Amino acid sequence: MTDEPLPGQEAIVAKPRPFWVAGRPRTSVDTIDVRHPYDGTDVATVSVPTAADVEDAIAAAAAAAKPFRSAPAHLRASALEHVSLTLAERKEEIAETITAENGKPLKWSTAEVGRAVSVFRFAAEEARRHIGELQRLDTDVAGEGRLGLIRRRPRGPVLAVAPFNFPLNLVAHKVAPALAVGAPVIVKPASATPLSALLLGEILAETDLPEGAFSVLPVRGSAMSTLIEDPRLPVISFTGSTGVGHGISAAAPRKHVVMELGSNSAAILCPDWTDLDFAATRIATFGNYQAGQSCISVQRVVVHRSLADEFIPKLVTAVEALKTGDPHDPSVDVGPLIDERNAERVADWIDEAVGAGATLLTGGTRTGATVAPTVLSGVAASAKVSCEEVFGPVLVVTVVDSVDEAFEIANGTDYGLQAGVFTRDLQIAFRASAELEVGGVVIGDVPSYRADQMPYGGVKGSGTGREGLKSAMDDFTEEQIMVLSGLEL
Ligand code: SIN
Repeated sequence: MTDEPLPGQEAIVAKPRPFWVAGRPRTSVDTIDVRHPYDGTDVATVSVPTAADVEDAIAAAAAAAKPFRSAPAHLRASALEHVSLTLAERKEEIAETITAENGKPLKWSTAEVGRAVSVFRFAAEEARRHIGELQRLDTDVAGEGRLGLIRRRPRGPVLAVAPFNFPLNLVAHKVAPALAVGAPVIVKPASATPLSALLLGEILAETDLPEGAFSVLPVRGSAMSTLIEDPRLPVISFTGSTGVGHGISAAAPRKHVVMELGSNSAAILCPDWTDLDFAATRIATFGNYQAGQSCISVQRVVVHRSLADEFIPKLVTAVEALKTGDPHDPSVDVGPLIDERNAERVADWIDEAVGAGATLLTGGTRTGATVAPTVLSGVAASAKVSCEEVFGPVLVVTVVDSVDEAFEIANGTDYGLQAGVFTRDLQIAFRASAELEVGGVVIGDVPSYRADQMPYGGVKGSGTGREGLKSAMDDFTEEQIMVLSGLEL
């Protein structure tokens, strides 16, 4: 049997999409099908790399490590700029691809492409200025006449393991900083959503990056251990679930592992906050964008009692105004989850909370992979919708009597990625930053706010290390000091 169509069939038989090994396309007889989460229709067929392809990619990355780290900044910057400009030119087509493979509404896919355009642009800018620093060593007698030149050298090739929820931009957040510092990168996209990463491979292949600088390998999960354990890939940047992240760290104890894991982020409404319509709209939107499948989507809403009677009905109204349906319809706000299995899980968790006494204020239903935006109150702290990461369109409202109690509830979780604090009170804002156990505090908005250049990452069970171009570039490199002696300073 051959994959090739019979004569005359070319137009109707889609060829498997190639993967990328050391900057070149390859195909194989083994394939996976990508299906549209909304209705299960076929989107594309993708070639799956063999063990030999994986070995070629790793060997090429290892061979490229030394020449690439010495490649001039202008070469890396112009490759990154090319990607940024091409993503912008092909924005509609790429947004369509994201929606087709991931099921997120077109408006959010379009926003994701826009963010990836910025990520590659920021990376190009950082590549031009990422140089290091000078340090005085003559602060003691023994250091007289000496100067330290501290430069950052890549730790080595990066294995980038990406999640399904931002199939382009969370790949960009690993690829762009790696290339900016001159570290070869091998991308393992999520099995459900390989198309955006493969498309990125196509755009990277148009640049002058050296052979081996990048590969995109949509291998099955079962083939992951080869990549994770290979010592030629000393850095792993992983975004995904806490369980898988910890499994990777355990399997690669000697590697530098950056992990962006889950969360059950809180939005806190403090008693001084007056614009309840704004807070309700932002929380409704960012509890349900991408059907709640973002690590920083709002999950827990902690409201001061003085605002609760007015705020909660506004929140329910804002949630009910969200349109659910086909993600290709530009007016749709909430599409399906990534698959029906996850939708069933979320519906089960809602039922569990209601069974234990929670009040269902709206939602709670499921059709196929789509879960209706849901608001619950009176949820037991031990219910999964409260203490675990739902990764679905569910908001859990808790009423509190003080800011102290709000912070205690926000901290009462194994996670710690970002928190949103609706306050204009500077004292509360600084207390939030001092007391909340999270990697990022957003004052006056939801925890879901992320600018792509800012440091982004968690504490506790939400991971280690930071994304954001400058932070990730620092993470993918280590300091090397050169001591210059006998100088007249
Ligand atoms: C994530 O889900 O961790 C990424 C959120 C984002 O980039 O907005």
